[in-house]
Amino acid sequence: MITLKNSFHGRTITTLAATGQDRFHIDFAPYTEGFKYVASNDLDALREAMTPDVCALLIEPIQGEGGVNFLRSAYLRGAEELCRERDVALIFDEVQTGIGRTGQFFTYQHYGVEPDIVTAAKGLGGGLPIGAFMCGEKFALVLGPGSHGSTFGGNPIACAGALEVVGRVSDPAFLRSVREKGEYMRCRITGMKLACVREVRGLGLMTGVEITGDPHAVIQDCCKAGLLLLTAGTNVLRFLPPLTISYAELDEGLGIFENQLKQDTRNGGTVAF
Ligand SMILES: Cc1ncc(COP(=O)(O)O)c(C=O)c1O
Repeated sequence: MITLKNSFHGRTITTLAATGQDRFHIDFAPYTEGFKYVASNDLDALREAMTPDVCALLIEPIQGEGGVNFLRSAYLRGAEELCRERDVALIFDEVQTGIGRTGQFFTYQHYGVEPDIVTAAKGLGGGLPIGAFMCGEKFALVLGPGSHGSTFGGNPIACAGALEVVGRVSDPAFLRSVREKGEYMRCRITGMKLACVREVRGLGLMTGVEITGDPHAVIQDCCKAGLLLLTAGTNVLRFLPPLTISYAELDEGLGIFENQLKQDTRNGGTVAF
């Protein structure tokens, strides 16, 4: 199975193996074998890696943990074409990017590509623990009822919650509000003109702010002031607010962020204009 460098696919033994980052391959060896990692956005490298023994390509449409890294649409379309040509399953890991996070129900829908299999979790439960994978016709008969399960799998409370989430998130007006709030956030952050900010990127309510300083220090300062952020990759601050966040709450969080970064001389303060 091919996955991408800098990817993140989870913390079970096989998804750790699927993750294309060496730092996740230290503590839990031996790992499941059979993965190879290729550079993102490089169709030639992908073509070369797709030897006849490859069964699947597993991709996050936007790498979350790895740094809020985008894949070019030409790359995603080319990857889809290669998979069809070589009879390789195209799997999108939408655990982080799915269920409305980027302003479409699934992020792959922004790119006009169609996976054979898609995974979902986090947002699907709206706080309750649930994960799911879905497949198209090609794989529909591979697993039958009862051939895969877990102790708490399919529990009625989490499923009732997930059904409610799916109903609400698939409303086009809700998805539009996610896109609009994301644009608003990124405009606000760009408008702060912070010297330590190298790039603001994202889609919907998934935003990465690449900075020159240490993201961990910023995160700790923001946390003390009441704003929870995540790191991503080595130098990116990740904003993944609830999709239901209001503009007033966004303003409050962005205000904390701006104050912290402006106060924080370690990160250079603001650009003088
Ligand atoms: C893209 C992606 N896939 C899968 C996972 C699942 O991880 P875990 O095994 O920790 O639930 C995550 C969690 O952060 C993720 O971001």
